[in-house]
Amino acid sequence: MAAVVWHVTMSLDGYIAGPDEAMEWVFEYFSEESNETASNVIETTGAIIMGRRTYEVEDRYRPGIYGGAWTGPYFVLTHEPPEVVPQWMTGTFINENIEAAVARATDAAAGKNVGILGANLAKQCLERGLLEEIVIHLAPVLLGDGVRLFAAPGVERVRLEPTQVTRSGPLTDLRFRVSSGERTDAESAT
Ligand SMILES: NC(=O)c1ccc[n+]([C@@H]2O[C@H](COP(=O)([O-])OP(=O)(O)OC[C@H]3O[C@@H](n4cnc5c(N)ncnc54)[C@H](OP(=O)(O)O)[C@@H]3O)[C@@H](O)[C@H]2O)c1
Repeated sequence: MAAVVWHVTMSLDGYIAGPDEAMEWVFEYFSEESNETASNVIETTGAIIMGRRTYEVEDRYRPGIYGGAWTGPYFVLTHEPPEVVPQWMTGTFINENIEAAVARATDAAAGKNVGILGANLAKQCLERGLLEEIVIHLAPVLLGDGVRLFAAPGVERVRLEPTQVTRSGPLTDLRFRVSSGERTDAESAT
């Protein structure tokens, strides 16, 4: 069944981008060898949503979604679309709440998964119960600073169910299903 899936590469110290949005460390891992988990995500994704900063980094480093390995409808959330758009950009800039964006992408995905890129949108999805799966490539590197995977002080604990752990070259691929929010008896008692 189709799902809303957050696909992300994370450093061991929990960053998805380094200082100044550095992303070359991610692309280095994927240029070295193929990754079965990433290929599976790409094959099963029918539409993608990302935020403006992710789009700008794609433009800076490697034009095209997944460096051109994926084609399909995609949507870039921004309050103010740029006036000049590069030739590779075949997606649509949208300015709407995350619920509407996910509904739009679900329609566009035509039965396949909706991919979420970046931390900001994933957090919005998680907070509204829209995210169903998280796929993480855990990279053996410490960045020390940057954009955190998830930073939401004060929010309720988000429970995840591990569904896959795979080694692929230097990366450890992790998949989690996002639980519906019920707490275990042990947690309720604390
Ligand atoms: N390691 C990985 O796998 C991975 C994957 C993806 C991204 N990244 C990196 O993560 C870094 C930052 O990503 P991020 O997640 O913090 O930012 P992001 O989601 O890419 O961009 C945030 C921006 O998206 C726009 N936005 C978000 N929600 C919106 C809404 N509901 N309505 C209108 N506009 C909305 C706003 O743009 P405006 O200010 O224009 O309104 C906001 O400032 C980048 O360096 C990116 O390359 C890493």
